[in-house]
Amino acid sequence: MLRTLEWTGSTLKLLDQTRLPNAVVDVELSTAIEVHDAIRRLVVRGAPAIGVSAAYGMLLGIRDARSLDELRVTLTETADLLGSARPTAVNLAWAIQRISLVAQTELRSAAATVRSVLERVEVECADMLRHDAEVCEAIGGHALPLLLAAGVRRGRDGRDNPIGILTHCNAGLLATCGIGTATAPIYLAHRRGIRLTVWADETRPLLQGARLTATELHQGGIDVRLICDDMAASVMSRGLVDAVIVGTDRVAANGDVANKIGTLGVAILARHFQIPFLVAAPTSSIDLACPSGRDIPIEQRAADEVTRFRSVPIAMDGIAVDNPAFDVTPYDLVTAIVTEHGVWTPPAE
Ligand code: MRU
Repeated sequence: MLRTLEWTGSTLKLLDQTRLPNAVVDVELSTAIEVHDAIRRLVVRGAPAIGVSAAYGMLLGIRDARSLDELRVTLTETADLLGSARPTAVNLAWAIQRISLVAQTELRSAAATVRSVLERVEVECADMLRHDAEVCEAIGGHALPLLLAAGVRRGRDGRDNPIGILTHCNAGLLATCGIGTATAPIYLAHRRGIRLTVWADETRPLLQGARLTATELHQGGIDVRLICDDMAASVMSRGLVDAVIVGTDRVAANGDVANKIGTLGVAILARHFQIPFLVAAPTSSIDLACPSGRDIPIEQRAADEVTRFRSVPIAMDGIAVDNPAFDVTPYDLVTAIVTEHGVWTPPAE
């Protein structure tokens, strides 16, 4: 089974997702600068995995402090550095804040030493990693009945007739420390012998659906069908999709959902074809300080991600490009948001 990240006791080992599926290679990081670079280059990606990686990045950033004063300075510097890696996934800020808080609480104790702060932070990181896996399982438990009900409504029982699920990008085990968020009910169904067919959008421009979701589901023994993004309407119009489930990088207080570019189009299609559109969201991805989707910062990425296909030019040199990495699906297109605590149906009030 592919493993997204691992703490070795002194370094952060990340599966290099830029190389998948052609090579399964780990990179071992020992500084916060390396973690920042890995997050920015999508070596590790997916909101929950970004959060846990940033937590360990905080530990790496402060571990060489020689005094409590130096630790205080490196804590702030590391938080600023890692916080600037990517703007949209709120899990990044959430994880950095959580580690900063733990460190500052320990720093305020009269008995604090550099060692005691580092120990406290390392325990917190391990806790976040473990908790992330538990959250995935809990989301799966809440989401699976919704997928089954959606199948039954369209005459599919998950035994003789597999239930059709469409997903976009990768909110799978490669985006988390567990069985994924959007993929969690899919893995749970598979464990219980319920038959599903998963339609995986390839997810241009960086192909997380093709390179990551299709790979991990196929390796997990799940019936997955890879489609180009422009085929989703056709698949839905042929009645092959009973429910859509996607992940999220940030849910605003009103229930608007930011996720990988292309998600909004899928949600509009799902509404057209009257297919439930579910969002799997750990509470660490919910940003109550963000009133609506308009307030969510959307990452713009480099033009060559669009003008080149895996380094091969596919557009004229110098052509102008818009490359937003995420879009916002308004809450009224969202059937339900599934967290580790249960199912929430927008609008917020
Ligand atoms: O740019 P990425 O690959 O980090 O985008 C990832 C997504 O959009 C995921 O759907 C989201 O982070 C949720 S992962 C559980």
